[in-house]
Amino acid sequence: MINVGVIGTGMIGQDHIRRLTHVLADARVAAVSDVDQARAHEVAAGLPGAQVFATGEELIESSSVDAVVVTSWGPTHEQYVLAAIAAGKPVFCEKPLADTAAACSRILDAEVAAGRRSVQVGFMRRYDSRYLAVREVVEGATLGQPLLMHAAHRNPSVPAHFTSDSIITDSAVHDIDVARWMFSAEIVSVTVFKPRQNRRALASLDDPLLLLLEMSNGVLVDVEVLLNASFGYDIRGEVICEDGTVALSESPGAIVKSNGGFGGRVPVDWRERFVSAFDAEFRDWLATVAAGTEPTGPSAWDGYAATVVCDAGLAALRSGAREPVPLRDTPPLYTS
Ligand SMILES: NC(=O)c1ccc[n+]([C@@H]2O[C@H](COP(=O)([O-])OP(=O)(O)OC[C@H]3O[C@@H](n4cnc5c(N)ncnc54)[C@H](O)[C@@H]3O)[C@@H](O)[C@H]2O)c1
Repeated sequence: MINVGVIGTGMIGQDHIRRLTHVLADARVAAVSDVDQARAHEVAAGLPGAQVFATGEELIESSSVDAVVVTSWGPTHEQYVLAAIAAGKPVFCEKPLADTAAACSRILDAEVAAGRRSVQVGFMRRYDSRYLAVREVVEGATLGQPLLMHAAHRNPSVPAHFTSDSIITDSAVHDIDVARWMFSAEIVSVTVFKPRQNRRALASLDDPLLLLLEMSNGVLVDVEVLLNASFGYDIRGEVICEDGTVALSESPGAIVKSNGGFGGRVPVDWRERFVSAFDAEFRDWLATVAAGTEPTGPSAWDGYAATVVCDAGLAALRSGAREPVPLRDTPPLYTS
């Protein structure tokens, strides 16, 4: 049984706790911590034998914790990931790895100095069966070389505090990771376009945005992010290859034909759309923790690259120009 400690018992922290407690075998939540102590105690009350620690660092140091999940706010990720690396414990960190390129780079340095990979970042789309099916076709090269990808990220609505920057750092960041993973290539530049504004959006929000990502292998990826789609949560992706195209399939489930038309269900939000991907992601991470091997999912390098691409996206949003992505050299730890 793997004893997991969870730092940050907010929305996704509680969802991962539910997953670790009720969905997956061979793991239990042994400890929790949150700056909101009342919330941490409330969550622990539903977990038999779980301890509450006053700080994340104490949780990481505790001998009752084998592996760490970080689901606190983004700016606090760095301190906990560094503490877990120092303690030699596997750590699953929700995206972002850290909120600045410099902080991500410090995590890379710490992992490289430790000589082994112990960090996995929560880019769960890599575990989604529909994305995996598309990637298998692209990698199989039966359609020739990939040339372009069209992606869309449509949310039914967003909270009022959502900003144009969050469109890039919270929404498009998933498409950015998918592009790097789909084509096993880095993103070399980002340009951001602002189409006509959605009448459903607050005046302060650039909704929708269109990102153009240029990959190091010449593939071009366009990402539409539409935050007030109103009809549901709609994730699309189509890769255009030399000899054909391959696209994400629509939601599983029945297609209903009636009144001269046909239709199926659209997921209400990202939790419904990606629930199996989150389960698969944790199953994979726990298997490597149990085996004592390095994680096989998105690495600290993937977390670093996503943050640097987001920074270039934020610069492009302001400048209206094509902004280069200044990645540092990849340490050999991440190239094997
Ligand atoms: N992979 C995904 O699709 C996905 C989805 C949602 C959220 N996330 C990420 O998960 C993280 C948490 O998001 P959320 O929606 O659960 O937020 P949330 O606000 O619901 O929860 C965050 C929790 O962290 C706690 N916290 C803040 N600072 C802390 C600190 N220094 N130490 C310990 N706890 C602290 C807060 O009190 C809160 O309970 C974010 O980084 C977010 O980007 C990822």
